[in-house]
Amino acid sequence: MKTILERLDEREAIARLGGGVERLQAQHNRGKLTARERIELLLDQDSFEEFDMFVQHRAIDFGMDSVKIPGDGVVTGWGTVNGRTVFVFAKDFTVFGGSLSETHAQKILKLQDMALRNRAPIIGLFDAGGARIQEGVAALGGYGEVFQRNVLASGVIPQISLIMGPCAGGDVYSPAMTDFIFMVKDTSYMFVTGPDVVKTVTNENVTAEQLGGASVHTTQSSIADHAYENDVEALLQMRRLIDFLPASNVAPLPEWPSFDTADRVDFSLDTLIPDNPNKPYDVKELIAKTVDEGDFFEIQQAHARNIVVGFGRMEGRTVGIVANQPLVLAGVLDSDASRKAGRFVRFCDCFNIPIVTFVDVPGFLPGVAQEHGGLIKHGAKLLFAYAEATVPKITIITRKAFGGAYDVMASKHLRGDVNYAWPTAQIAVMGAKGAVEIIFRKDLADPEKIAKHTKDYEERFLSPFVAAERGYIDEVIQPHTTRKRVARVLALLRSKNLENPWKKHDNIPL
Ligand code: HXC
Repeated sequence: MKTILERLDEREAIARLGGGVERLQAQHNRGKLTARERIELLLDQDSFEEFDMFVQHRAIDFGMDSVKIPGDGVVTGWGTVNGRTVFVFAKDFTVFGGSLSETHAQKILKLQDMALRNRAPIIGLFDAGGARIQEGVAALGGYGEVFQRNVLASGVIPQISLIMGPCAGGDVYSPAMTDFIFMVKDTSYMFVTGPDVVKTVTNENVTAEQLGGASVHTTQSSIADHAYENDVEALLQMRRLIDFLPASNVAPLPEWPSFDTADRVDFSLDTLIPDNPNKPYDVKELIAKTVDEGDFFEIQQAHARNIVVGFGRMEGRTVGIVANQPLVLAGVLDSDASRKAGRFVRFCDCFNIPIVTFVDVPGFLPGVAQEHGGLIKHGAKLLFAYAEATVPKITIITRKAFGGAYDVMASKHLRGDVNYAWPTAQIAVMGAKGAVEIIFRKDLADPEKIAKHTKDYEERFLSPFVAAERGYIDEVIQPHTTRKRVARVLALLRSKNLENPWKKHDNIPL
């Protein structure tokens, strides 16, 4: 009996070595952790339960029948993050470069099926060279089935991808269909075709970093939601993110002890808005002073910085925050900002996370590049997302809410549940200067008249009261009471019950 038990220990020890000591060391030399070390850091201590440790590939071509490594390049299983179940797979670069074979795919498929069936988040740690080149079409089939499951799980369980090394070819499209993609600076890159193919096809010379490194994907392409300094930071931040997310679209919001009081007031907010309406301020200060303990998990921090989105908590329960950022482009809505916020609003709506929107927006960004780039279609994404969302929607207009952007930003007209304005709010078709130059064009040569018209326009329209008179604003509130008011309304809206008409799915402009 003892020998039989020891045989299991021996086989496990071999499997844990992956591609062997040298390759594990090479992984460390590149500044990367191994697949198993990553899982250990991601999950609660000793909580990992591994599946399919002894699975081996069945390929025979190109000498593959003589190289079999237990686990086949991916470590899969489940465990807990702060006591809550998550499923995890980690590509093992030391085994055939983490490449995906038929059996490697089957391990991931099993995990995806279990995560969906048990309604718990799934996290993929990527560090791989794409399809197992020795297997060909069997690997392609495997990818296809992974993709299919990504789509079926979308909107049912949170799916998170963390790119911690190469992620190329077939490996990129599974992350691309998950809710969030994070990367590690300098060691990770993502592209469909690598620098060599790019050189052959388009004659462009680029490095892997220039083509698909973290800086490209967090700033320009917006493929990635954030990049971390190293593996350790990235994994610890994934734990933090998981704490914000419900386990599924039917699970309750996670509730954590809060050391903040719901009725906390902050008088510094009364002076947040500068006297000069053209002066910026940092909306992140308002966010930090509103949410529990100032704890805010920002998504897409480096892309479309004119809008800020991310997760916070109120009374220990997750909220999604969307806020125009006056510090960048005066907080204007452009195509990138609309797409960024639209996707975030939809994520919150999928998973029943209430949305708090802070509005200070001078309108949509004018310009040929924006119009030709599809501003109408991209702006419509955010409008569509807010309009279809049935989760609690609380809106606070701090300053400007001009033109179409007023409507878009979770206005009363898009079923905003409670819409507040600060006394500094200005809700109008446009700013006074632009308005006067159009409606009093004949007086343009007379600065005195123009000044008077501007003053009249400002007094009449650039306040929250015209909108409040119509009930478009439920109440004008003192800035220092913002947290308290939002917390009370969120408590009220816990029992909100609103359904859209039945449909197969909508047709959001893509
Ligand atoms: C089999 C692979 C592999 C692969 C790497 N390896 N990629 N084995 N299939 N796709 C193996 C290597 O042979 C090597 O084995 C080990 O992994 C480490 O690879 P290195 O090249 O030594 O590492 P490095 O220099 O860091 O380069 C990493 C890399 C490179 C950039 C990922 O390996 C690479 O370019 N691989 C091929 C990428 C690729 O073209 N994949 C197919 C994409 S097509 P040893 O034994 O020496 O340690 C695709 C289509 C799917 O995915 C489409 C579905 C929609």
